[in-house]
Amino acid sequence: MVKVKMFDASDALKARKVAVEMPPINSKEFYDVVDSRRSVRIYADDPVPEEVMRRAMEAALKAPTSSNLQVWEIHWVRSDDKKKALIKACLGQPAAATAQELVVFVARPDLWKRNNGWMIRHLESNSEAPGKAIQYFKKITKIVYNQGPLGVFRPFKWLWFTVRGFRKPTPREPIHKGHMDTWAHKTTALAAQTFMLAVRAEGFDSCPMEGLDSKRVKRLLGLPRGAGINMAISVGKRAEGGVYGPRFRFDAKHFIIEQ
Ligand SMILES: Cc1cc2nc3c(=O)[nH]c(=O)nc-3n(C[C@H](O)[C@H](O)[C@H](O)COP(=O)(O)O)c2cc1C
Repeated sequence: MVKVKMFDASDALKARKVAVEMPPINSKEFYDVVDSRRSVRIYADDPVPEEVMRRAMEAALKAPTSSNLQVWEIHWVRSDDKKKALIKACLGQPAAATAQELVVFVARPDLWKRNNGWMIRHLESNSEAPGKAIQYFKKITKIVYNQGPLGVFRPFKWLWFTVRGFRKPTPREPIHKGHMDTWAHKTTALAAQTFMLAVRAEGFDSCPMEGLDSKRVKRLLGLPRGAGINMAISVGKRAEGGVYGPRFRFDAKHFIIEQ
């Protein structure tokens, strides 16, 4: 049996490590994007060019994703009928009703096995792919994410992780459906935020929305039970009064904890 030691840092710790030269980055522009992104509730009538939407969605798919399994989907709702239904399912809120474009970010924990298979095929077709990476997707992910038919592996995983965890650091999740959902939603939310920052970088605005009827949205998009609605995001150009007041955050000292 091949023993896959994915997290063995001993070689890297021994070697001298030199920073790689990277092209310069204009950090001010990045912070301008972050600072000027606001949740917009009323949009102007200006349309959003199709290429802007496509570039922002492509950027979203470059977000980091756990085990690179990409358990996300972006549903761009373009037909008038579906848009109307989606606005209704978003409780008719102005951020949806006045939007030029609407997308829904969907978490797909149920597709991890399909994507794992794609990953193995991709790596095996590349003669330079490291054996360690192939083993990771052939062995590790299959242990970590597989819950067995109807979740039969769950109690055994719990027992294994708990007993092993007494002796050494051991990943404790995912061992039930809730963990799998959290796992997929984390990855999907990073894609959603990347999308919103890209939209802002293109000179447009957005609003994330979870004030929606997820059951109706799933039905509208033709999604199976295992899919989860992460958030809907509206896109357009902010109109006068479209941002409800200045940005407010609690004092960072409550949230940035150094220890
Ligand atoms: C997951 C999530 C769900 C949200 N849902 C809604 C929503 O349904 N409707 C809405 O108007 N704003 C929604 N918001 C926007 C927040 O209210 C907003 O981000 C927050 O007030 C901070 O304002 P800012 O985004 O302008 O910095 C949501 C934000 C997040 C992250």
